[in-house]
Amino acid sequence: MKTKTLAAVVREKDAPFSLEEVELDEPRPNEVLVRMVATGLCHTDLSVRSGVIPFPLPGVVGHEGAGVVEAVGSAVQRVKPGDHVLASFTSCGSCPNCQAGHPAYCFSFLPLNLLGGTRADGSHTIEQKGTPLKAHFFGQSSLARHALIDERSLVKVNSDAPLEMLAPLGCGIQTGAGTVLNVLRPAPGSSLAVFGLGGVGLAAIMGATLSAAGRIIAIDLVPSRLSLARELGATETIDARSSDTVQALMELTAGQGVNYTIEATGSTRVLSQAIQVLAPLGTCAVIGAPQASSTVPFDVNFLLNGRRIIGITEGDSQPEHFIPALVRLYELGRLPLDRLIRHYPFEQIEQAANDAHRGTTIKPVLTYS
Ligand SMILES: NC(=O)c1ccc[n+]([C@@H]2O[C@H](COP(=O)([O-])OP(=O)(O)OC[C@H]3O[C@@H](n4cnc5c(N)ncnc54)[C@H](O)[C@@H]3O)[C@@H](O)[C@H]2O)c1
Ligand SMILES: [Zn+2]
Ligand SMILES: [Zn+2]
Repeated sequence: MKTKTLAAVVREKDAPFSLEEVELDEPRPNEVLVRMVATGLCHTDLSVRSGVIPFPLPGVVGHEGAGVVEAVGSAVQRVKPGDHVLASFTSCGSCPNCQAGHPAYCFSFLPLNLLGGTRADGSHTIEQKGTPLKAHFFGQSSLARHALIDERSLVKVNSDAPLEMLAPLGCGIQTGAGTVLNVLRPAPGSSLAVFGLGGVGLAAIMGATLSAAGRIIAIDLVPSRLSLARELGATETIDARSSDTVQALMELTAGQGVNYTIEATGSTRVLSQAIQVLAPLGTCAVIGAPQASSTVPFDVNFLLNGRRIIGITEGDSQPEHFIPALVRLYELGRLPLDRLIRHYPFEQIEQAANDAHRGTTIKPVLTYS
């Protein structure tokens, strides 16, 4: 049976989210119908709307969903009706990288999650009066009261887990924390600098406080985010409005440079800084997603001293293992997500997007009554 629901439709580039009645397809064998309880907004959703990410429109995005399973397709094994779930990215499960435990580097990641707007076979998951809408965003398109979600996107959590707090684990938090804990794994006493303190960057700060890094340097343009970073465990902060970031980082490290840098702004100018300040053998992790086809020049000889630049998707995590680990850290009080989140009723999605854009809210989470 098809499901009627209310979704936030992006009609065209820069248009406001429009709450419209849509129809979800019946679950295919590997799909799950979920009643959403909360959905986090990530910068990537807003990048679709602003045209930075060329997802086809009109369509429905949303990729930090949390909710309760209502129905499952015939082959679904991970979850059953009534289960509480968090939704993350999807992957094919059979390509060499999926098989090797790196589903974020699935050979089909872009069409399945970001750019396709349909299932792998080209069929649509959402329509409106017989006209298809683009959806299947991260296998979920969860900016809606109900979502049809790939089984591989879903992670089951306990029925008493606070879904409205945990929703952002599916993308932003997993990405920032996973970059530090799964990929960089800082050496004891090393220095790590995070450029950009949105949901992703602050999750990287939280990840760094759980690691062996000895210096955690937080950089942003918004003073309140710098203070929050300190409260979360940053040992130093740099206000990029009033300081030359490269010079400040070189001074802080007595001219040696930083061991690990994380670019979480999406700015190519900032990425260039994050490369320039690397110490020999240092690694720059690129998370921020600028306009398609952006390029950044770098001094080739500078890289020859063992420096690396690595692009990272979703913290290179396996959601079914990493997300429960993050939930546990949250329960222990070691991943204080509450400090980043502000809740908005679904109907106020435009306000949530504007507040994120203006920098007054770090991680908006929409709730459905
Ligand atoms: N690779 C991935 O898997 C992945 C996953 C999620 C998000 N992203 C991308 O990561 C980026 C960050 O996402 P977010 O949701 O945290 O975004 P956000 O907009 O909430 O945060 C960006 C932060 O960067 C700061 N900033 C902007 N320009 C700056 C500058 N010149 N110097 C210092 N700070 C600056 C802003 O003040 C803001 O605090 C986006 O580009 C997003 O699309 C990538
Ligand atoms: Zn794959
Ligand atoms: Zn995201």
